[in-house]
Amino acid sequence: MKKIDIYKHLSWKIKYEAGDMPYPPVLFWKNNIWIEDTIIAWKNTLNIIKKSEKNHNMWLYVHIPFCYTNCSFCTCVVKVEHKEKKYDEYLDMLEKESKIYTDTFKWVKFNTVYVWWWTPTIITAKQTKRFYDILKNYFDLSEVKQMMTEWSPYTTTEDKMKVLAECWINKMTFWVQSLDSKTLKKNNRFQNIDDVKNAIQLARKYGIEYINLDLMTWIEDQDIDWFKETIDLIEDLKPTTVHVNAFWPTKNTTYTQLWNIYSLDDINYRNDMYKYGRKFEDHRSKIKELEKDNLQLYNAHNFNSSILWLWYWAISHAYSSIHYSKLSFSDYSKLVDGDKSIRFIWYKLDNNDEIISYLINNLRNWVYFDRFSKIFKLDLISLGIYKKIEKLIELWILVVGENIDYWKYVMFKFNSDLFSSIYSKSLYNDKLIDEFSNYIDANKKEFLNLQLRLKQFFTD
Ligand SMILES: C[S@@+](CC[C@H](N)C(=O)[O-])C[C@H]1O[C@@H](n2cnc3c(N)ncnc32)[C@H](O)[C@@H]1O
Ligand code: SF4
Repeated sequence: MKKIDIYKHLSWKIKYEAGDMPYPPVLFWKNNIWIEDTIIAWKNTLNIIKKSEKNHNMWLYVHIPFCYTNCSFCTCVVKVEHKEKKYDEYLDMLEKESKIYTDTFKWVKFNTVYVWWWTPTIITAKQTKRFYDILKNYFDLSEVKQMMTEWSPYTTTEDKMKVLAECWINKMTFWVQSLDSKTLKKNNRFQNIDDVKNAIQLARKYGIEYINLDLMTWIEDQDIDWFKETIDLIEDLKPTTVHVNAFWPTKNTTYTQLWNIYSLDDINYRNDMYKYGRKFEDHRSKIKELEKDNLQLYNAHNFNSSILWLWYWAISHAYSSIHYSKLSFSDYSKLVDGDKSIRFIWYKLDNNDEIISYLINNLRNWVYFDRFSKIFKLDLISLGIYKKIEKLIELWILVVGENIDYWKYVMFKFNSDLFSSIYSKSLYNDKLIDEFSNYIDANKKEFLNLQLRLKQFFTD
């Protein structure tokens, strides 16, 4: 099989498994390290950071892993839970996990804190206070620049918002997705325009000025005229930014599990809505500087920052040491209760992996040569991987340029998800590509009708 075809297969597989975040993708990870190994890895990373004079701007991520409902488009492994007692148990576990890591991180001043996914608003105001107290007690958040949380409008209340403001939150995303009641009902989700208005008013009342709204375009009973209506209603609310996501039928979605069809007609319809939404997104979003908008992306670009991610189904990144994750709720609960036999999935990262990862993550926007050399203390042009970059430049897949400050950069020629996803695979370690090629040979059925499968995940 030609290399480009292997890249296409890999691009689909990673998206379908909802594992497109790290390099190398979870697909290539092993399952044989334990809690002590993660602590050793972190010590190694923190030693590297300590010795370097530059900032590393670490992120702390936390999940509040319960949902009020199970929305059929959702790509998370959902846990619907309504009992407050279970939320207390969750907080107990979070506190135990924080205790495990607190010593290792005692001198680290985190730069951002992000709380997202599932429905963080589901816990009570008192529990929200305890949640942030745990983070502040066990980690140094005294110099955090962006404290961000993502909330569902229909579980937002004034007492919770008040706590949030007291806990220094300065950026919020409200998960709207759609305001059309028929679409929402079909997808097992409830909320209306008044919930969204109320949530935004409360955020503003308590001084949280930066408000982002997330919308989705998918298809199950969604109509382009209703989508346009949602956009009109959103416009009136004057959020700071809006993000529109196009539906991915990943293997975790109820949609895929129940219907498992996402036809070319559906895809085209979704893409029309998405294009409309993206135009609005660009017109609406007032903040154009990445540092103010998404400090974590900015940090990834400028510092290749590490991430400590608490809770399971979450990927931590200890710079130049490992990626790792805990697999299941039952593993997690045993682990925090001191069971040292629980295995983590992981991938060992050397400097070369960090470089590939950095390039893949940033070439979609741009990679500045001087920033690269500041982070890695290496000249990009002198590295072996630059030969692969040169090849892509010769083929006009990547282009080199200079911005107005005369900073030289390299980036993908087209701003296209599909194009950059496929061609970024040519930077992968060749051993991984060979390994995946064998996987394709052994699992041909999984990739039938690959062209349609790719269209399901890429909007262009
Ligand atoms: C994991 S979700 C959290 C959603 C949130 N709990 C809510 O109630 O809406 C984070 C964002 O990912 C997007 N998202 C969720 N499932 C998706 C899918 N299957 N395809 C594309 N985007 C998705 C949504 O726009 C959502 O705002
Ligand atoms: S979209 Fe949000 S509320 Fe719905 S199932 Fe997913 S995480 Fe839960």
